Amino acid sequence: MKKNIGAHAVMAPIPAFIATCADKQGNSNLITISYGGIINANPVMVYMSVRDTRASYPMLKETGEFVINIPGENLTKETDICGIRSARNFDKWELTGFTKVDASIVNVPMIKECPVNMECVTRHIIKLGSHDIFLAEVVATHVDEEFLDEKDKVIIEKMRPFGFCYNSQDYWTLGEKIGHYGWANKAD
Ligand SMILES: Cc1cc2nc3c(=O)[nH]c(=O)nc-3n(C[C@H](O)[C@H](O)[C@H](O)COP(=O)(O)O)c2cc1C
Repeated sequence: MKKNIGAHAVMAPIPAFIATCADKQGNSNLITISYGGIINANPVMVYMSVRDTRASYPMLKETGEFVINIPGENLTKETDICGIRSARNFDKWELTGFTKVDASIVNVPMIKECPVNMECVTRHIIKLGSHDIFLAEVVATHVDEEFLDEKDKVIIEKMRPFGFCYNSQDYWTLGEKIGHYGWANKAD
């Protein structure tokens, strides 16, 4: 027996990443995002949905640029901090102790401590209701070399990203690898 619990987006896990953004004066901020993901392969495009009440929102609107910083599970606390504190009251660079690193194309700092940084340029903004969705092209991707194999594929078990479950509001580590794309065919 299933219970209809109403309209809920019960997809789990979803990402929890830290987006960095900056205004034209060079003031920058960090915001945790779980409404985000991949939306196009060529060009490589991603999205994130942001409420217009966030301090980050005017920065994102002003420059259209941001960096998606993917934290490892060692940075769960810092990820939470960037999602419960606002730049209106705190300097989140100071709170987290994160180190700013210049990006290669966008004028937004990247987080050194995060193993992956994706430089993004917004191509479209769509108002959906509670959130605006920023549809952005990834123009550069930086990965700590220690997490790359010889084919430049990310070694997930070494990088140890984590997921977020919106419904329960919990962070979860990844478990064991249980399959591979196309694996079902080969098993015939
Ligand atoms: C795990 C997690 C996920 C979040 N996802 C989003 C999101 O997708 N979009 C959004 O607008 N806010 C999201 N938030 C809330 C913002 O990160 C939070 O309001 C933050 O304090 C905004 O910072 P700012 O005011 O400095 O921009 C999330 C918070 C957490 C803890």
